[in-house]
Order: sequence, then C-alpha cells, then structure tokens
Amino acid sequence: MKKLFFISILSTLLLITACGPDEDLDPGYDLTGINYNPKTHVIFSDPDFPTVPNFPIMEIPSDNPLTVEGVYLGRMLFYDPILSADSTQSCSSCHHQENAFAEPLSVSVGIDGIAGTRNAMPLFNLGYNPNGFFWDGRSASLEVQALEPVENPIELHENWDNVQAKFRRSPMYREQFRKAFGIENSNEIDKELAAKALSQFMRTMVSWRSKFDKALGNAPYSGLRPVLTEQEDTGRQLFIRELGGAADTAPVSNGGNAECQHCHQTSGLFTNNSYRNNGLDFANNFDDFVDKGFGMVTGISADNGKFRTPSLRNIELTGPYMHDGRFETLEEVLRFYSEHIKSSPNIDSNLGNKIPGVGFSDAQIQAIIAFLKTLTDDDFINDPQFSNPF
Ligand code: HEC
Ligand code: HEC
Repeated sequence: MKKLFFISILSTLLLITACGPDEDLDPGYDLTGINYNPKTHVIFSDPDFPTVPNFPIMEIPSDNPLTVEGVYLGRMLFYDPILSADSTQSCSSCHHQENAFAEPLSVSVGIDGIAGTRNAMPLFNLGYNPNGFFWDGRSASLEVQALEPVENPIELHENWDNVQAKFRRSPMYREQFRKAFGIENSNEIDKELAAKALSQFMRTMVSWRSKFDKALGNAPYSGLRPVLTEQEDTGRQLFIRELGGAADTAPVSNGGNAECQHCHQTSGLFTNNSYRNNGLDFANNFDDFVDKGFGMVTGISADNGKFRTPSLRNIELTGPYMHDGRFETLEEVLRFYSEHIKSSPNIDSNLGNKIPGVGFSDAQIQAIIAFLKTLTDDDFINDPQFSNPF
C-alpha cells in the first residue's frame, strides 16, 4: 500500500514536471490523503514522506519542503552550465543519469582540466542519509553540500556572487525562483535558495525499483515477481554469510564468509552510511594514510583512512570503484576482498579477521557479481523526471 502511494507521488511529480514550469498544475491524480497543498504546491513534507519498504523515513528539513516548482528549479540548475565559470560544465557533467549519476572516470576533471583525487559519487537515496555527504562526510546536509561544487577550483570554479548575478539577469530564472520560493524581488535570489532547490531535486532521486526489489515481491510487484537465478541467489547467500552466524549453514561450498552485509546491508539502502576502513591500504600507524578521509573531518587520527560505505545499489553502473576509483571492474573489487585486504590499526574488525582475504573461489566471485547486478535499477536511470529538462 505504501509503495503504491509512493509511486503515485513519483508519477505525479513526473506528470507535473513534464508539463514544464509555466503550465497550470493539474496533476490528474486524486491527491486525497497525500500531503499536497494546492496553494503552496508543497507535495510532501516530513514526517509524511512516503516510505519504501525496508527504507528509513526520509527526513526533510522543515525550512525546505519539496515543492513542484522547487524540484523543477533544482532540476534546471542541475543540468545548466550557468553554474560554471566558462559555461561548459554543470552538475550533470560529472553525474550522468545512465551511470546512476556517477561517471565512468576514476577521478573527476573540472572545467580547467585539472583532475581531482576523488571518484564522483552516484546520486540516489541521498535524502535517507543523515550521516554527512562526500566520501569523507565533510558536508552535514545536502543544502550545505550543494554549495560546494560551484566554487571548488577543480569542479565548476565559479563564484556564487557571479552565479547570483547571472540568475538575477535571466528572466527565466527570475520567474522560476519566484515560483519556487515566493520571493518578490529578484535581489532575493541567492545561493542558499539555489542550494535548496538543488537539494529538493536530489531528494526526489530515489532508487528502489531494481530486479532485487521486485523479487522481494512487495506491492506493486507481487503479481509479476521476477525470481533470482540460482547463481544470483548463491551470490545473495554469500553476501550475507557470516563466520559462525546462522547464515553460515547456507548451501554454498566452503570458504567465502563474506560478511558484506555488516556495512552494505542486505536490503533497503545497501549501505549503513557509516565511515569504515575496509582494508584498501597497508598502514603501520594512523599517519600512514595518503588520503586521511573521515579523519580530516573529525580531527581524530583513529578516523584516518576511513571513508563512507557506498551503497551497492546500481553498482554495475558506477565504476570505477572506491573513493579514488582504483578498481575498474567489480571483478577487481571482489579479488581485493578475496585476496588483498591490507592490515592497518583501524581496519574494521569484520575484515581485519580475514587478512589477506575472504578466499572466494572463482565461481563464488561470479555469483556475488551476478547478485550485485540484480541491484541495477533501470527504471531509475531511464526515469524522465530526472533527465535534462532543457
Ligand atoms: C567536476 C566533476 C563534478 C561536478 C561538476 C559536480 N560534482 Fe558532485 N561530486 C563529484 C565528486 C568527485 C564527488 C566526491 C567528492 C569527494 O568526496 O571529495 C562528488 C560528490 C557529490 C555529492 C555527495 C554524494 C554523497 O553520497 O555524499 C553530491 C550530493 C554531489 N556531488 C552533487 C553535485 C551537485 C549538486 C553538483 C552541481 C552543483 C555537482 N555535484 C557537481 C564530482 C562533481
Ligand atoms: C567493514 C565494512 C565493509 C565490509 C564488511 C565490506 N565493505 Fe565494501 N566497502 C566498504 C567501504 C568503507 C567502501 C569504500 C572504501 C573506500 O573507497 O575507501 C567499500 C566499497 C565497496 C565497493 C565499491 C563501491 C563504490 O561505489 O566504489 C564494492 C563494490 C564493495 N565495497 C563490495 C563489497 C562486498 C561484495 C563485500 C563482501 C565481500 C564488502 N564490500 C564488504 C565497507 C565494507
């Protein structure tokens, strides 16, 4: 029931946004029971945001409810190179819908052709993450995060005063900011409102329609439920299998107590959104890590070398992998967990007890990869409500 409710809201959004910002709002849906205010056009707000089975409740800040116009403005901003100094790049230059909003480069390259040190992260289910954004967690909220790429010298390399001036000169943006935030004077257009609109758009980017979700058989898929193949299901069992745990009796061959689910979960978001050291690099002490990651943000040396656990949803589409894009393929990632886990003082205990690796067979590696590919959400990457509105 809840899921149907959620779909109708997503489709409502889609219908409305597909009309463009200038048309009258006629969602063509019975909005009874949905938290929709025709005066403000607020479509849903905390705590009534619809829930996907196995997902936590999305926390939406009370000063930035999702509105049809706000989401649409955010979508425009996401795709418009007006945010970059030389009008060549937008958010979408590094966050491609066909890659679940990641990009197929190990590290991102900004408008000046300078490469950064981090792999572009995929963008979905961000509204469910209360635990900080970026690989190292340096932004506490989406609203704060959305300000960063514009001024980052290796991203859009622009300054917000210029961007504000560009918006205020543009009749299209003057009108759209007015509609989204009810402002009366174009001088009120500022970076905070732009960041709010971008955040609204990003909160609507929910990925929950993969083969795996459908196989769980929740409504509305109960009638046409796909079944995991034998190999995919073996991969699923390996994924959750624990040393000595109940799942250790799973009907798979010896070895391969992968325990992936401690950090990547078995359903829902496929991440615990926490910061962990998964044993990528050898370190004698906390100062040894080249990229200090979470430790730079907390100032606690025991957090050096920890990074945010990524969701494994859409993982087939988001390579290269890890914070620095060091692995090109999922096979390389699985070989790493199988044979190349490195020791360091703060390696997570779920992996520290397995150095140099879990010891998968080739067939087990292929099975886990087959399972991971069931997390690909084609509906999400083809959903027109997240595509370029221009
Ligand atoms: C030059 C490429 C580039 C551009 C342009 C860019 N990003 Fe990113 N984005 C990245 C990289 C790289 C990361 C990871 C950075 C890090 O962790 O240090 C990232 C991370 C993010 C995250 C964090 C996701 C998470 O799970 O924590 C969000 C959200 C995001 N970008 C949104 C945007 C928005 C909105 C824009 C446009 C205003 C934008 N990005 C422009 C490359 C880019
Ligand atoms: C101790 C927690 C933990 C465990 C257990 C764990 N991972 Fe990870 N995983 C992480 C973290 C943290 C990262 C990101 C590390 C980085 O980039 O520095 C990661 C990254 C990944 C990535 C790359 C994601 C991306 O977007 O780049 C894949 C794929 C992956 N893990 C799969 C697995 C599989 C399969 C297992 C079980 C064999 C597993 N992980 C076990 C914490 C864990």
